[in-house]
Amino acid sequence: MSDAPHTRPLSARWLHLLLAVLALGAIACGYIMSDTGWPGTGVIDRTSLYVAHKSMGLLMLPVVVMWALVMVRLVRAPRYSRQHSYSHSYRHFHRHPRLRAATAWVIWAVHAALLVVFMAVALTGWIGSSYGAYGQDVFGVVPFPDIAPRRDVEQSIRFYTAHRQLAQAAGWLLAVHVAGALFHLLIVRDRVFQAMFALRLRAPQRRALR
Ligand code: HEM
Ligand code: HEM
Repeated sequence: MSDAPHTRPLSARWLHLLLAVLALGAIACGYIMSDTGWPGTGVIDRTSLYVAHKSMGLLMLPVVVMWALVMVRLVRAPRYSRQHSYSHSYRHFHRHPRLRAATAWVIWAVHAALLVVFMAVALTGWIGSSYGAYGQDVFGVVPFPDIAPRRDVEQSIRFYTAHRQLAQAAGWLLAVHVAGALFHLLIVRDRVFQAMFALRLRAPQRRALR
């Protein structure tokens, strides 16, 4: 996977950036709003954090679906190659082919787990909120339907308990993922990090993706 982002279309990079912002925002708001000792600051109170948290969490669902569609289209494109052409510095850090294969497998597993666990977090939040008293929308503008009957307190608590546990697992997975990203940026220095967040394509990349 080391140089994979160089071959990604802009849409995939923008969607990944959006996911990163939404995930970090949802986790930060989630912990602050759940802290009973938090007094609020200025115009930001607990209620506005709940709205922001639910909105960012719900938005992750369509963004992941869009990203998956972009990636499926890419993988099915005739010019897409499953062969990874590892950079020189990546080879230096993973000299043995078996080590390279094992690393690629671990990276794949972390990516898959990230997507599955974050989706489970968003879904359990959505179900818990639907069972609850207030429902959900996106920043008070786009209504999001209930997927369970309202005002069933027991079920709501059950799903929110699962939600909090899964959110913790998601946080750890994200920490591993970000550590891997920083490893590329600071130690391997193979420009994988920069490529994933490069939001303009250079001419050779445009040609490669055509
Ligand atoms: C993937 C997106 C999401 C992430 C990463 C996330 C993360 C979190 C975190 C870290 C907490 C605090 C956990 C704790 O205090 O131990 C939390 C709580 C909460 N989340 Fe989410 N969440 C997401 C999506 C949602 C959605 C979609 C909803 C509802 C529509 C939601 C509703 C809530 C509520 C109501 C709480 C407080 C639960 C309680 O106090 O029992 N979350 N979430
Ligand atoms: C602070 C947030 C994040 C940073 C700094 C970050 C960084 C990166 C980097 C540098 C890569 C390319 C290197 C690699 O292949 O491992 C990457 C790929 C990837 N990231 Fe993230 N990421 C973040 C958040 C997320 C989130 C929230 C998710 C999913 C819920 C996610 C899922 C993925 C996936 C699936 C790939 C592989 C993409 C591909 O092969 O095109 N990332 N990320």
